Amino acid sequence: MEAITFTAKTKKLELVQSPVPKVVRSDDVLIKVAYSGICGTDLHIIQTVLYYIILILTLVSLVIFLLKGEFPCHPTKTFTLGHEFSGTVVDVGSDVFIVKPGDKVSVDPNDGCKCCNFCRSGNPHYCRIGGINNTIGIYRDGGWAQYCVAPACQVHKLPDTISLEQAALTEPISCLAHGWDIISPVTVGKKILVIGAGVIGSLWVCTLHLHGHRNVTVSEPNQIRLNMLKNLNTGYNLITPDQLRKNQQEDPDYLFDLVVDCSGFPPAIEHAVSLLQRGGTLCCFGVAPPHGEVKIKPFDIYMKEMKIFGVNINPFSFPKSIGLLEAMGERYLNYDKLGIKTFPLKQHQEAIELLKKGTIAKAIFKL
Ligand SMILES: *[C@@H]1O[C@H](CO)[C@@H](O)[C@H](O)[C@H]1NC(C)=O
Ligand SMILES: *[C@@H]1O[C@H](CO)[C@@H](O)[C@H](O)[C@H]1NC(C)=O
Ligand SMILES: [Zn+2]
Ligand SMILES: [Zn+2]
Repeated sequence: MEAITFTAKTKKLELVQSPVPKVVRSDDVLIKVAYSGICGTDLHIIQTVLYYIILILTLVSLVIFLLKGEFPCHPTKTFTLGHEFSGTVVDVGSDVFIVKPGDKVSVDPNDGCKCCNFCRSGNPHYCRIGGINNTIGIYRDGGWAQYCVAPACQVHKLPDTISLEQAALTEPISCLAHGWDIISPVTVGKKILVIGAGVIGSLWVCTLHLHGHRNVTVSEPNQIRLNMLKNLNTGYNLITPDQLRKNQQEDPDYLFDLVVDCSGFPPAIEHAVSLLQRGGTLCCFGVAPPHGEVKIKPFDIYMKEMKIFGVNINPFSFPKSIGLLEAMGERYLNYDKLGIKTFPLKQHQEAIELLKKGTIAKAIFKL
């Protein structure tokens, strides 16, 4: 089969021919991959190796780097990337009962060790053992391949109402579902600002609109991305950060009850804090660079009773995501509307280039 493998040491991304993996363990599920997304994290993994090489120059920094556990993927093994994928079951181990060959599924790449105190307290995403060493497509072979093996408890059967195409978005939307739980309740009528109109910003727009929210402003410097959002036909206020600043200067009451940051860009987050209404909530959803910083006045936190939430991946949120996918349907989850383009595996370089240029919101391999 064809697969795209990555080696961190040599930062080599390669399209290879490899044997189709087999069901070995009794809980293994062999999946024929249908759609497999390229996520920001993947670009980060591929690029971080550059930082890694720079860091080698200073051995001390390297040691700190490794001790802090910031290494984002398997450091030594050559593995197949891809942690956002859907497909059809072709074979199952003897203990697998939740899915059978022919079932359409999507795969949750994350799992905890199930035995540490975090896992036992319902927070597998904090797990230090299973979490980081296990992720499918980051440590274990993932879905940028024609076939992939996953443990049954990470395989979710899809209802007939969800297409394999839409299901490639289950993982990103499961992270949104987790975020939604954290910031809920968000009562209709709240004034909401979404920062960043990449595909994650667009999916937040879909989620907010689906839940009945109508006064939503999206701030994004890239006019192409901003225009892409018009396809979703939500009537939301789509503006640039400059316009945002101008509105703020003209009207002291131009404030938001909820800001969802999807940019991870520290200056934008710092600006957003100044736009929070009293009692307001800041949701840090976009992944900021590990050493990025923002200045916040503790006085403002006190005065406004500000709430700041982080959202880290997707504990127990795949079923919720599948519910959202079903409710959103074609109205929202249409690749053209979302600016998603599909590619065959062999065009991976082109896909990555277009993503970096920002002319498409997301690239998904179609197998
Ligand atoms: C997980 O990774 C850490 C750091 O790379 C390593 O020390 C540890 O032994 C690994 N745990 C397992 C269960 O493989
Ligand atoms: C929407 O929210 C903005 C930001 O607070 C506010 O200026 C505007 O008046 C609101 N619009 C409506 C129709 O409520
Ligand atoms: Zn991802
Ligand atoms: Zn654990």
